[in-house]
Amino acid sequence: MEIPPFDLLEYLVSNIETCRYDIAGSNLPPLSLEELGPLEDMDLSWAYLGGSPELRKLIAEISHVSEDEVLVTQGASEANFLVGLTLLERGSKVVVERPFYEPLYKAFQMLGARISYLPRSSEKGFDLPIDHMTESLPEDTRLLVLTNLYNPGGTLTDGGILRELASLAEERDFHILMDEVFREAAFERAPPCALTVSHRFIVTSSPSKFYGLGGVRIGWCLASTQLLKRIRAAKNFTTVAPSTLSDALTIGALKMRDRVRRRNRRLINDNRKLVDEWVEQEADVAWVPPDGYVSFPSFRGDVDRLASVALRNHGTLIAPGRFFGAENHFRLCFGMETSVLRSGLEGLTKAMKEV
Ligand SMILES: Cc1ncc(COP(=O)(O)O)c(C=O)c1O
Repeated sequence: MEIPPFDLLEYLVSNIETCRYDIAGSNLPPLSLEELGPLEDMDLSWAYLGGSPELRKLIAEISHVSEDEVLVTQGASEANFLVGLTLLERGSKVVVERPFYEPLYKAFQMLGARISYLPRSSEKGFDLPIDHMTESLPEDTRLLVLTNLYNPGGTLTDGGILRELASLAEERDFHILMDEVFREAAFERAPPCALTVSHRFIVTSSPSKFYGLGGVRIGWCLASTQLLKRIRAAKNFTTVAPSTLSDALTIGALKMRDRVRRRNRRLINDNRKLVDEWVEQEADVAWVPPDGYVSFPSFRGDVDRLASVALRNHGTLIAPGRFFGAENHFRLCFGMETSVLRSGLEGLTKAMKEV
């Protein structure tokens, strides 16, 4: 099996320690161990295979699904991979939105799937091409892969569109993987969890972004009980079970959900004002205003050169669009401390004058 490089990850990891202002990464600020509360003594000699009942109950509550539709995984990354392992065979047709989050096509390509792309263009606000969906999806589509909110564009797909997608999937007999790691970032405008719309959807998510808990490596997969049984069987051959410690830490985080939402809302609103002003003032930059805190502006110029000058001369890290399949864009996130964002944007402005 040929393993492709995960280019975005390698780029971010190789520059993260030297940059001063990371405005490329997609996490909100982390919760500390102290905030998550003292851990009770626990039996570390084993772990619940599909996640502890308490964690599954909390995930079911926030997603409005039933507990037996929840499988706890090691990050959304594992959840996405398990969906591919379960549903795909060599030669299966997978359609992925483009610009994309890289693993959402590479992981499936690695499993032998044939990939084609569904374009989401900035001229159309990164909306899904719902009117052309029938022609855009090959007859033999097995899996359609989408994100909601969209990474990298930050656009939300609402319940009405989800219902249209579900009826097409029903008619044409395929499944839709909906990666919802950014869904909560739209707060009360957040779209419904796609599994509540139809069992044609398989939903993946994690506390890595909204709760800043990428290090605990917890995620989840939500699917009909019938399908989830098969996905759970696949997990027995990957990581077997989530870490008992991480399971407990995530329970702590989800119990603090209201507080986290208040904190994140304040931060995103404050930062959004800064980015709105910055985009307004930069003649060479245009964007689709996002529904969350991840955005994908375009730059009239050489984005790779801009990224390297910004990093070298000003310590600002952005994620060039080539990693998402759209070279004249870059991913700009604004979920970090406001002072970091401000300095990062100032660095980017200076770099634009130097390229
Ligand atoms: C759309 C999307 N899905 C999944 C992941 C990975 O999530 P996790 O850290 O929970 O594995 C990311 C991380 O950037 C992402 O952007």
